[in-house]
Amino acid sequence: MKKFFTLLVVLALAVPSWAGLLKCDRSCLAVIPQPQKMELGGKTFCLKPSSGIFLADDDPQLHYAADLLERHLTPVFGKGLEPKDKAAVRIGISPAMKPEGYRMTIDGKGVEITAGSAAGAFYACQTLLQLMPVEMPADGSVTAIELPYADIEDAPVYTLRSMMLDCSRHFFTVDEIKDLLDLLAMHKLNTFHWHLTDSQGWRIEIKKYPELTRIGNYRPYTVRWPSWEPNGIPVDGYYTQEQIREIIKYAQERFISIIPEIDIPGHSNAALASYQWLGCRGEGYKVLPNFMISSDVFCPGKETTFEFLENMLAEVIELFPSEYIHIGGDECPKSEWEKCPLCQKRIADEGLADEKELQSYTIRRVEKFIRSKGRKLVGWDEISEGGLSTTAVVMQRYFGERAKKVFANGNYSILCPNYYCYFDYYQVPESEHANEPYCHRGRSNFNLNVECAYSLDPASAYTPVEMKQVLGVECNLWTEHVPDFAMLQYKLLPRLDAFCEAAWTASPDRDFNDFVSRLSVMAARYDAMGLTNYAKHVFNR
Ligand code: ACM
Ligand code: ZN
Repeated sequence: MKKFFTLLVVLALAVPSWAGLLKCDRSCLAVIPQPQKMELGGKTFCLKPSSGIFLADDDPQLHYAADLLERHLTPVFGKGLEPKDKAAVRIGISPAMKPEGYRMTIDGKGVEITAGSAAGAFYACQTLLQLMPVEMPADGSVTAIELPYADIEDAPVYTLRSMMLDCSRHFFTVDEIKDLLDLLAMHKLNTFHWHLTDSQGWRIEIKKYPELTRIGNYRPYTVRWPSWEPNGIPVDGYYTQEQIREIIKYAQERFISIIPEIDIPGHSNAALASYQWLGCRGEGYKVLPNFMISSDVFCPGKETTFEFLENMLAEVIELFPSEYIHIGGDECPKSEWEKCPLCQKRIADEGLADEKELQSYTIRRVEKFIRSKGRKLVGWDEISEGGLSTTAVVMQRYFGERAKKVFANGNYSILCPNYYCYFDYYQVPESEHANEPYCHRGRSNFNLNVECAYSLDPASAYTPVEMKQVLGVECNLWTEHVPDFAMLQYKLLPRLDAFCEAAWTASPDRDFNDFVSRLSVMAARYDAMGLTNYAKHVFNR
């Protein structure tokens, strides 16, 4: 009898009748990016596994939205939402709506989502997750989650919302890339620009050219703040084609398209180290251990260089379904071309004026190949040097006059103005640099803090006609000084939140102070997710 009584007490302590209900915490009703219209009611709806879920459209991608809910709720409830016809969570598609837009109502009947596409439904579910408590025990102990009554109408202002990660200067594992993709999806970004090659490392397996990932993937040491002396720490790593397919699929399930970047004709020491004949001198090339801009670049005087580029890009295009293929094109010194007889012969044979036109010749030839495969070429601003093909997409990292020239040439652009979007820059004023991990400086007296990132607003800088040529916006993380995922968190978060709101929410609807108050909830979510190394400066204003 005593034993039985003890057991009852223990059971009562372990599962008191109210323990399974997660109350709606009004202090955490803070969605980032800010929806276009969001009205919250005073009452709550109780979501339970038995509430059920119904997909009211046979779009084969719609279940990615349901899968997102499943991934988050199954550990909490110990089981998923039951699929059933008379479900309280109903997700459908209305093609009359904007493609990535959605409407979501939460009331006594449950959660009703109507979206312009499966992607819109996925974003509705991301919003729904942000209406749930920050702390949700993942032990199956929850029986119900209170959701606030809500009426939300939402759609993004930019159709392409991207982040670039440089995986050459430092390497990030498949699992880290997946974690990053989850973060991008949570912020309603739909593009991941993957910088896969540079002078400091080649990171993508190319079956026809195995030396790229036997030699080009490895530097025996690197240099690192604060000493800048060769540190004996090798940097190594690459993605097999199988891993890349796995990552592409993971991204697709989150409505993220991946733009691969292979940097040519500059930033190419890793390729030249692997196949010495790709350079003008034909010898003496090494994977670059430091972070200089090297004058060793692909030799466009040789036909074998173009043969290599086409074979290599054919494999890249075969792997990546993306509409866009990024070929770099930035920061290509011309000194080797000036000295190379074959490059000089090419200039003469093709009637080119100078080495800048030789660069333009190279990019145009590569573009022709990419277009023959039904894809579009993207390149950094410098692809306009020496004449720009109007069909190339320009990734513009400079704001202002230089950008306007590209618009005037008729090109589509993706905007990542460095003073707003380069998250490798310091996020504190100069007087505080000494207390920070090393960063790029940007310019004198410049501070790319959260407020600066939040102020990104291309529509205020360009005319409506120019804006028609803007495909979207991108934030960028170069990783010379980002050796690991902890530092990635520090430099990316929470500036990513500021960027995503600038990318999604029209500027008249944005308010920085309101954003910061919502950001403190996001920070608590990061803590709960174990992403504890985000930068805290903005909370100490
Ligand atoms: C770049 O910042 N070099 C594209
Ligand atoms: Zn040459």
